[in-house]
Amino acid sequence: MDIHFLETQYGSVDYRISCNLRNELLRKPLGMSLFDQDLEEERDFIHLIGKNEEQELIAYLQFKKIEEDTLKMQQVVVAELAQGKGIGRKLILFSEQFAIMSGFSSIILHARENVIGFYERLDYVREGERFLEVTIPHFKARKKLQ
Ligand SMILES: CC(C)(COP(=O)(O)OP(=O)(O)OC[C@H]1O[C@@H](n2cnc3c(N)ncnc32)[C@H](O)[C@@H]1OP(=O)(O)O)[C@@H](O)C(=O)NCCC(=O)NCCS
Repeated sequence: MDIHFLETQYGSVDYRISCNLRNELLRKPLGMSLFDQDLEEERDFIHLIGKNEEQELIAYLQFKKIEEDTLKMQQVVVAELAQGKGIGRKLILFSEQFAIMSGFSSIILHARENVIGFYERLDYVREGERFLEVTIPHFKARKKLQ
């Protein structure tokens, strides 16, 4: 599958499609809705997407700037039918290059416990104890960019 990655803007058609994907994969399984929360703060975030050859949006993540040199990676999703094919890995690697080109040197994230292995394979290092977020166990992890 040939995927291309790019930035999109808050409020764009692709942003709205990505919200539906995030809601399906990250919120509905927990009995929640993404649209119950105020998405206005995402106006200032960086939004990165992956599209397949048919121009369908199949991958998404966002960055929130939390320090001068550090971004927080959030809302990482790959569409269900596209999972397990290396697209999540490519999305993360693209986002890291994007972060470096934008002048950042560190990424942190809160990984769901069932997905921490995915980030560890990409050299994210766990920090601290397990904690609850959106009702489920998470670990904080960090990667220093080259
Ligand atoms: C987690 C997710 C983004 C991974 O994307 P993906 O495209 O399926 O992952 P990839 O195929 O690129 O996998 C890359 C590597 O990570 C491994 N991996 C994937 N998911 C994993 C998991 N849940 N736990 C441990 N390892 C995992 C793969 O086996 C692969 O290993 P390899 O390097 O030995 O080949 C995707 O499954 C997803 O969207 N899940 C639902 C939403 C979610 O939970 N997001 C994360 C919130 S913190």
